[in-house]
Amino acid sequence: MKLFIDSGNLDEIRSLVPLGIIDGITTNPSLLAKEGGDSRKLLKQICDLVKGPVSAEVVATDFDGMVKEGRDLATIDDHIVVKVPFGKAGVRACGALSHEGIKVNVTLCFSAAQALLAAKVGATFVSPFVGRLDDIATSGMGLIEEIVQIYDNYEFGTEVLVASVRHPIHVVEAARLGADVCTCPTKVIDSLFNHPLTDIGLARFLADWKKAQSQ
Ligand code: G3P
Repeated sequence: MKLFIDSGNLDEIRSLVPLGIIDGITTNPSLLAKEGGDSRKLLKQICDLVKGPVSAEVVATDFDGMVKEGRDLATIDDHIVVKVPFGKAGVRACGALSHEGIKVNVTLCFSAAQALLAAKVGATFVSPFVGRLDDIATSGMGLIEEIVQIYDNYEFGTEVLVASVRHPIHVVEAARLGADVCTCPTKVIDSLFNHPLTDIGLARFLADWKKAQSQ
């Protein structure tokens, strides 16, 4: 399973890329607004850092605007994946941009029906938001299971990019279900490393070794 960072923060990205576990980045208008400054310049810097798919979202809500913005975003770097929100305009824009060879991530997906339509128009990625479903007592991972099954039935090329991840169990469950990608905030990626028994075990190894050296 590929692991993306869900962030537009260069320091967060720089802290994780050297670990060799990061395969790409997702951003959205909220994440880029949080960083401020020139978003195009920031996206280019992110592409240069990660050298994997970097999702950048349009803010237009109409078909023509989405296509225009998508074509412009794609000129930033070869790694840019254009994010469009799900809807009739987004589905149509995904089809048009994909036909031009521009990779598209259909975001704000909350149902298997939406994921099916995104795949039919050649989306490179679909982003089901599992955390926001969990937040309203609906199983986010249940949606992932449905989408993976549907995509396998028809051998769709669209990759399931699990988004709105809140904790490490979302990551583990996404991998168990066969999702292609999981995009996580930095704090969730950090939490994947943590286990108290690992810390206790290492401390014991080192203490025993130190004790033996002093004998
Ligand atoms: O990329 C989509 C993701 O950022 C949404 O996550 O935590 O705002 O639901 P969240």
